[in-house]
Amino acid sequence: MTRTTSKGVISAAMLSVLASTAGAEIGDKLVVNGDLELTVEAPAPAFMADTGIKTIYSGWLFRDPDTQKIEMDDFDNPGMLYVDQGAEMWNTPAGTSNKSCADCHGDATETMAGVRATYPKWNEAAGVVRSLQGQIEFCRTEHQGAEPWKYAKAEINAMEAFISMQSRGMPVNVAIDGPAQSTWEQGREIYYTRYGQLELSCANCHEQNYDHYIRSDHLSQGQINGFPVYRLKDTQLTTASGRFVGCVRDTRAETFKADSAEFTALELYVASRGNGLSVEGVSVRH
Ligand code: HEC
Ligand code: HEC
Repeated sequence: MTRTTSKGVISAAMLSVLASTAGAEIGDKLVVNGDLELTVEAPAPAFMADTGIKTIYSGWLFRDPDTQKIEMDDFDNPGMLYVDQGAEMWNTPAGTSNKSCADCHGDATETMAGVRATYPKWNEAAGVVRSLQGQIEFCRTEHQGAEPWKYAKAEINAMEAFISMQSRGMPVNVAIDGPAQSTWEQGREIYYTRYGQLELSCANCHEQNYDHYIRSDHLSQGQINGFPVYRLKDTQLTTASGRFVGCVRDTRAETFKADSAEFTALELYVASRGNGLSVEGVSVRH
């Protein structure tokens, strides 16, 4: 990955400042299935005091009304098919243990409620911060004795979607202190580092220029409370780190791998910027 120290600036030609006519106005409500209201707007966490951001917003608010509507009804949300697939895999024995996830973890609606909201999370035994995918893969290989699913592939994404759904509506609440602190700081450094030929950091786009348009795209704060995301453009699920890969590539830089320690650290940092927003389970984006 190319790191640059000089000042990256988003050129005026790249950005256009338009009134937000497409998409929801900030203040709109995300109500799923007519009865579950998700928090799409919350006070920024204390550590963001020096960023100029006082309110954090879900990426849902920045999408056009047609895309928004799809997330408001589980029958329309294609991400739910993956959730069903994840539920089935939850109960399927695998590997040398011939155990299913359910054999050890029981009813996911009870044992996995709230789990997604706290990941990435410090794992004491391993002595590292683990992403949710990292934990799923650990259970798959070490506890089930099965072949790895491989990061960001269809099966593990479906399992992540199923587990995320058990936290839908709960506030993101990742820990950034204690043993997770140094990883969080590493993530913060990556967030502010300017990469690639365009010399742009995550912050240049998602902190300093959110709510502006970049080409035809309404820039959000780059939150990950909605992940995994069903992307209409790809007709499949995308993970947070999969999205990071895409964003870094857009700056014409070499990127870290989706399952790298660097992107787990970045995932922790970005997740913490969304502490207080609802886990959306499986969101829908363009
Ligand atoms: C050149 C500007 C640019 C840079 C630099 C950039 N992004 Fe993005 N990013 C975008 C655009 C455009 C989108 C799509 C619209 C949106 O959701 O903001 C996007 C989307 C996202 C999303 C999806 C949000 C959602 O709710 O679906 C995340 C997460 C994200 N970016 C994180 C990052 C991170 C982390 C970095 C730094 C490694 C980064 N981005 C760097 C332009 C950028
Ligand atoms: C043989 C028992 C066993 C099986 C089978 C198993 N796990 Fe686990 N799982 C554990 C144990 C023990 C832990 C806690 C400590 C650790 O290993 O990190 C755990 C932790 C977890 C956590 C983290 C929970 C938290 O509160 O942080 C998730 C998520 C998880 N497992 C998902 C899965 C999934 C998905 C499967 C099936 C693919 C699975 N597990 C299969 C034993 C198992």
